Amino acid sequence: MRAVTWHGRADVRVDTVPDPTIQEPTDVIVEITSSGICGSDLHLIEVMAPFMTVGDVMGHEPMGVVREVGPEVTAVRPGDRVVVPFNISCGTCWMCSEGLQSQCETTQNREQGFGASLFGYTKLYGQVPGGQAEYLRVPFGNTLPIKVPQGLPDDRFVYLSDVVPTAWQAVQYAATPPGGTLLVLGLGPIGDMCTRIARHLGIEKVYGVDVVPERLRRATARGTEVIRSTDQDDVVPAIRDATQGRGPDAVIDAVGMEAHDSPFAWAAQKASAVLPDAVMEKVMQVAGVDRLAALNTAIEAVRRGGTISLSGVYGGATDPLPLMRMFDKQVQLRMGQANVWRWVPDILPLLTEGDPLGVDDFATHRVPLEQAPEAYANFREKKDGTVKVLLQP
Ligand SMILES: NC(=O)c1ccc[n+]([C@@H]2O[C@H](COP(=O)([O-])OP(=O)(O)OC[C@H]3O[C@@H](n4cnc5c(N)ncnc54)[C@H](O)[C@@H]3O)[C@@H](O)[C@H]2O)c1
Ligand SMILES: [Zn+2]
Ligand SMILES: [Zn+2]
Repeated sequence: MRAVTWHGRADVRVDTVPDPTIQEPTDVIVEITSSGICGSDLHLIEVMAPFMTVGDVMGHEPMGVVREVGPEVTAVRPGDRVVVPFNISCGTCWMCSEGLQSQCETTQNREQGFGASLFGYTKLYGQVPGGQAEYLRVPFGNTLPIKVPQGLPDDRFVYLSDVVPTAWQAVQYAATPPGGTLLVLGLGPIGDMCTRIARHLGIEKVYGVDVVPERLRRATARGTEVIRSTDQDDVVPAIRDATQGRGPDAVIDAVGMEAHDSPFAWAAQKASAVLPDAVMEKVMQVAGVDRLAALNTAIEAVRRGGTISLSGVYGGATDPLPLMRMFDKQVQLRMGQANVWRWVPDILPLLTEGDPLGVDDFATHRVPLEQAPEAYANFREKKDGTVKVLLQP
């Protein structure tokens, strides 16, 4: 089959790789019809590169049609339409039953000291082949795939794999009080979806921060007030002016480790990029630093006693954080990979009964798998109006 494969920093290609096969009696094989490119995929072709291997199949936002099932699979049948969550979770262990699928005890990567495996995501998370491909092997066929109805286009359901549950969790963790104000840093797919969910759930005062014109336009069009700068010296006074000098009740960081405006860490990440990967892997695990501009803005901006919700991914082992400031301001901090299945029952009705979140025209680009290298480059460089790409094998 054809698949998007990792070849190095800023280098993805489309290669022919072996077709996946049933290996466990509960496996299913899904023929992929749509598969998103995520901001998390960009980390793999830059900061997280030391944890990747040439030929790894990328992608963790797929949906498609079940083509083959193992002998113990009863929950889905060939022909069923399914979305595949990005966490590989068993659905039956203690963590899964607590709604913490990203910490699944069956797929936890104990040797590496990491949580549940993820599709298409580094040695730290199991090095499992991903879903930017023609076919995908999906384990836990009775509990992992999310069955969705036939009839509506893929766009309606594909974001159930990651974008919508991630943004949903970010908004839940932010816990903006009634009548309160929410600030969303970053208006990429995740931040944009956070603003939509927040407004849908009744938060009236939602502010968004970014500098990319089409991302600002999308947010403005749906009623978010925008701040057109990512510089902390602009963002903090602007949001304080809008909140009686206090700051917002809650801040979502939808940026993560590759923020603009972090010159020191950016230089450190660049310098370390020339080290051999084996050395770099160790360095990252004990001494890695992130570009912390967005997180630092969140800490400064949030009101005293307010909440910061991190959905942006961080990977630094030794990030310096202003703990005195955080403690003194009584900041509450929640974070983590989204627990996709935890939120599916809340989200599914919003996808089947109308389209309140505007997923139908959320994608800016739908392209064949073969165009993945160009689509990755445009998404990374924020060129050609690229906000969300769906690859359609
Ligand atoms: N927690 C999870 O389960 C989960 C799931 C999916 C994605 N993510 C993470 O969410 C983050 C966003 O993903 P995305 O797909 O929207 O990516 P993206 O890279 O398209 O979006 C990031 C946006 O942040 C903006 N930005 C950069 N620096 C900023 C700053 N200092 N202040 C404000 N905005 C700034 C960029 O201009 C960009 O528009 C990534 O870190 C991704 O890894 C997490
Ligand atoms: Zn993703
Ligand atoms: Zn589990």
